[in-house]
Amino acid sequence: MFVDILFHKKRFRLPERIAGENGNLYTVQDQIASGGNAVVCECADESDGAEYAVKFLTNSSGDSRAERFEIERKLMEDLSTVRHSHLIGYVTSGCVKASFFDSKRNENKTTLPFVIMERANCSLREFVKNERTPIEFEIYAAQFRGLVSALALLHQQAIHRDIKPDNILVVGERWVISDFGLCSLLDGCGGQDLTPGWQVPGPRFWMSPEGNNKAVGLPEEITCASDVFQLAAVFWWVVNRRHPSGILAREDWIGAESLYEPVSRGLQHSLGRRYSTADEFRLAVVHAIGY
Ligand SMILES: Nc1ncnc2c1ncn2[C@@H]1O[C@H](COP(=O)(O)OP(=O)(O)O)[C@@H](O)[C@H]1O
Ligand SMILES: [Mg+2]
Repeated sequence: MFVDILFHKKRFRLPERIAGENGNLYTVQDQIASGGNAVVCECADESDGAEYAVKFLTNSSGDSRAERFEIERKLMEDLSTVRHSHLIGYVTSGCVKASFFDSKRNENKTTLPFVIMERANCSLREFVKNERTPIEFEIYAAQFRGLVSALALLHQQAIHRDIKPDNILVVGERWVISDFGLCSLLDGCGGQDLTPGWQVPGPRFWMSPEGNNKAVGLPEEITCASDVFQLAAVFWWVVNRRHPSGILAREDWIGAESLYEPVSRGLQHSLGRRYSTADEFRLAVVHAIGY
């Protein structure tokens, strides 16, 4: 039995049963979404019926994609040892032989690497879009605290570089950081970028000032502070349901008074005024929330 998955009009056919490195077999089910590089489907562990999501790397154009997917997979695996509840949970990974059909309907052979992870209900973008009323402080405050602490933990190993509402997923009651596909690995202590010098675009609309400067050809570095900016931008958007573009003022903030200060400091264009680490941002958020 085979299943078909669709990546931007390109159809792939693969076996319905795929084997994880952990020795378990999984049944691939409905396609959930396709992103810039991958198709994500539901899947079930045949041994106990538990439901997960499987992400297949379907975009292999360019030499670095497979290498980047391997970095993403390895990082997820490493992070799973610390089990932070606001980082997407990794289960296993593997590779599956598949076919794809070109525009003349010729069948071509390929291999799709995949990662199996906990399954989310939806992305934060969809969650916020579907909420009819403003999200309450009791809900967002605990999630902000969890997300900023997850980011601080991630920064011990890597810069995410792609924080945006599509890459934060809602798993039950938890909001979790996901999609480590654009991460750049750090050397742990000095914060030196260990990733090969790929030119990766940042997320349109959610880029930090450094990312935007880089995009217009200026010699700027993407750092941990850039992730702080992007996460603060997501927080602003969750609370106010507006993207934080333009000049922001206190009157534009409709959320809890105490959180205005940390979120707007996270959004400072000047690196001197912004938190330079996620841990500083985390401490300020914890102080503002009061727990
Ligand atoms: N674990 C998951 N559970 C449910 N949906 C997911 C999961 N992971 C990703 N998705 C959905 O698939 C989309 C693309 O996945 P993502 O990891 O962001 O890949 P890409 O690198 O292609 O952007 C996400 O925006 C989300 O809607
Ligand atoms: Mg994504």
